[in-house]
Amino acid sequence: MTINKLILGDNLDILRQFEDNWVDLIYLDPPFFSNRNYEIIWGDEGEIRSFQDRWAGGIEHYIAWLKERVYEMHRVLKPTGTLFLHCDWHADAYIRVEILDKIFGKNNFRNHLIWQRKTGRGETNHKSNRFGTVSDSIFFYAKGNKHTFNSQFSFEAEGYDDYIEKFFTHTDEQGRKYRIADLSSPQPRPNLMYEYKGYKPPKNGWAISLEKMKQFDKEGRLHFPKTKNGRIQRRRFLDELQGKPIQNVWDDIEMIGYHSKERIGYPTQKPEALMERIIRCASNEGNLVLDPFVGGGTTVAVADRLERKWMGIDQSVQAVKVTELRLQKQQDLFSKPFTVQLYKYDYDTLRYSDSFEFEEWIVQQYGGTGNVKKRGDYGIDGRMSDNTPIQVKRSDNIGRNVIDNFKSAAERNDKKLFDHNRKESKPVGYIISFSFGKGAVEEAARLKIKENIIIKLVTVDEIVPIAKKPTIRIDISEKSRAENGLWDLELTATGRSDAGIEFYSWDCSYDPKKGFKPSLIIDKEGRHRHQFKAGLHHIAVKVVDNDGLENIEVIKLQVNGKIKKTL
Ligand SMILES: C[S@@+](CC[C@H](N)C(=O)[O-])C[C@H]1O[C@@H](n2cnc3c(N)ncnc32)[C@H](O)[C@@H]1O
Repeated sequence: MTINKLILGDNLDILRQFEDNWVDLIYLDPPFFSNRNYEIIWGDEGEIRSFQDRWAGGIEHYIAWLKERVYEMHRVLKPTGTLFLHCDWHADAYIRVEILDKIFGKNNFRNHLIWQRKTGRGETNHKSNRFGTVSDSIFFYAKGNKHTFNSQFSFEAEGYDDYIEKFFTHTDEQGRKYRIADLSSPQPRPNLMYEYKGYKPPKNGWAISLEKMKQFDKEGRLHFPKTKNGRIQRRRFLDELQGKPIQNVWDDIEMIGYHSKERIGYPTQKPEALMERIIRCASNEGNLVLDPFVGGGTTVAVADRLERKWMGIDQSVQAVKVTELRLQKQQDLFSKPFTVQLYKYDYDTLRYSDSFEFEEWIVQQYGGTGNVKKRGDYGIDGRMSDNTPIQVKRSDNIGRNVIDNFKSAAERNDKKLFDHNRKESKPVGYIISFSFGKGAVEEAARLKIKENIIIKLVTVDEIVPIAKKPTIRIDISEKSRAENGLWDLELTATGRSDAGIEFYSWDCSYDPKKGFKPSLIIDKEGRHRHQFKAGLHHIAVKVVDNDGLENIEVIKLQVNGKIKKTL
């Protein structure tokens, strides 16, 4: 299975197609069971469908909806895998008891993490009859006893400065600040009952061996009390501190603010710092992170940056495309490639893609196996499980001669099978192409009627749904010439697609070498105002339709006294 993949679809359908035990970490931030009006983020068909699905009833219905999905998530997790489920007060108690405890087992509960989002949603009114709610819940469960857990530390945690002031009160010979930490064993350790430099061991013995004690001493890591009656302790240096150990209340991560750099512009976007903490603590480089409600892609963007493999699913075309753009924006020369699986395939991409890759892929989609020999095998590109040959023609309107040549190839490929299929009135072979010319169709019909040889002609769109990508045009109008020497322009994009246009994205300083790095990711209107300096500009706009298919238009714009557009 290709890793690093975005998939459009209902996560229940997609998860059910996956095998057991292969994911290391799952984070899910499902739509909350909350005020209905806040729930619609993208407003496209996929999201509305999911919304109606969840809202067919009350809380029981929501829990059942989520439970069948979490059941699949548990199944695909490795035995060493973990899951973090993000929710809020509306349903957190039900989710923990009715879903997570039942599917993962109470023993596998690890933490109830409280993320203090800082600003609360309601209860700002001083006449309210309850306290303000400023937190979300994240439930952390493991599939089994053994799982990755890397402790996390923070310099931002509330009270961190007080903590330093209160505990780091000692200074060593070099002027390094340190705090003292206990070196005695919590349990009796008779083998570690030794005297060191005249200091007696603690009641249960030391926590470290004599060798380690000597090493710490050499490194200046021991704190010797003034009198021999005291206890040797360990020095923990401030300059080596990784921060305050993180506990289950996370109050040091702010929600995405209006001016935040990572803001994409949709309401439920989670901060990268939150995802970073979860991914760092529960996975290692190379592990696979899955987000089945990927939204604007925070999880997968962070996983990618942290060298994890990833997979994201969302039912909304817009969410998948926004995530794709976000990932493209952060990609550099060293980034790993990723794929996007939509409901429909773009005709141009398939028609003009690498021919070997296409042949192998379409043969597999048809249920066959690609021909490993590739060339020199009578033009046979694959075989069905009974060895019946498949030929792929990555072109339109293929002609009569292709049918005749293939007939001979199929006969030479396996004469016994050919004769057998003919006798049984079964296809002796399959030809896959984008379209077949009249001559080819007539020849296939003639062979069937006159010689009982069936060559099945299959068009690509019978195997996978194909659509044509949208078209796009850009127009420019000058709004004003600002006093600071900038030109204030309005750029208008007009997209056309049978499926309908979903949104536009703009990159007003497009660099072909770097690729499309949008400055405005979601523009529903196709209208963008931007100020330009005098000079040459490359402007790129991407249009995305309701099938998720896209097109890009790049224009060169000469701004200098006059506005001149060249393509
Ligand atoms: C709260 S948002 C996730 C936000 C995300 N954590 C982020 O930081 O961007 C929930 C997402 O779940 C998606 N969704 C809802 N029902 C779904 C389903 N059945 N299958 C897949 N995705 C679904 C919605 O389209 C929405 O994008």
